[in-house]
Amino acid sequence: MLIAAGGVADGRGLAAALMLGADAVVVGTRLWASAEALTPKAHTDKAIAVTGDSTIQTKVLDALRGFPWPKEYSLRFLKNNLTDEWADREADAFRAFGTLSEKYAQARARNDLDTVAVICGEAVGLLKDRPGAESIVQSMAAQAADLLSKGSKLKFTSTS
Ligand SMILES: Cc1cc2nc3c(=O)[nH]c(=O)nc-3n(C[C@H](O)[C@H](O)[C@H](O)COP(=O)(O)O)c2cc1C
Repeated sequence: MLIAAGGVADGRGLAAALMLGADAVVVGTRLWASAEALTPKAHTDKAIAVTGDSTIQTKVLDALRGFPWPKEYSLRFLKNNLTDEWADREADAFRAFGTLSEKYAQARARNDLDTVAVICGEAVGLLKDRPGAESIVQSMAAQAADLLSKGSKLKFTSTS
């Protein structure tokens, strides 16, 4: 079984993944911003207001937590003061672990999203609301079915 993941947040993404040979998709960010998710509303409000270009992939959180994952694994989250200051200086961030993690803990206590990482994917650009999970899945499936059925009706016509 082939499962596609990353950036699937509506029926277009689902249809595209199926067309490319996937059997199923993983939906992360879209369901992270669903009514039932435990995601703080302030996080999804911020994510809904921005585009995918407002996210960045970085290891800065590893530096804050003090447990570096292997080099190839990093996290994507919304750009903010934290990433502005440290994303280009990851090695410095690891060296600043003690001070940085203390400042980060204080920012978390204040729920200061200028510093706290809002972890989500580039699919934030497709979020406009925070509907229920059932409605998200139903409309994704309906839109994908509609798009795929249109594809099967395509006809090639030659003008020459
Ligand atoms: C709140 C949140 C936490 C995540 N944490 C991790 C993580 O710890 N490790 C990881 O590899 N991916 C993590 N991801 C990324 C998911 O693997 C990703 O959402 C998934 O591939 C689906 O992509 P999509 O979010 O574009 O739908 C996280 C995603 C979200 C929304």
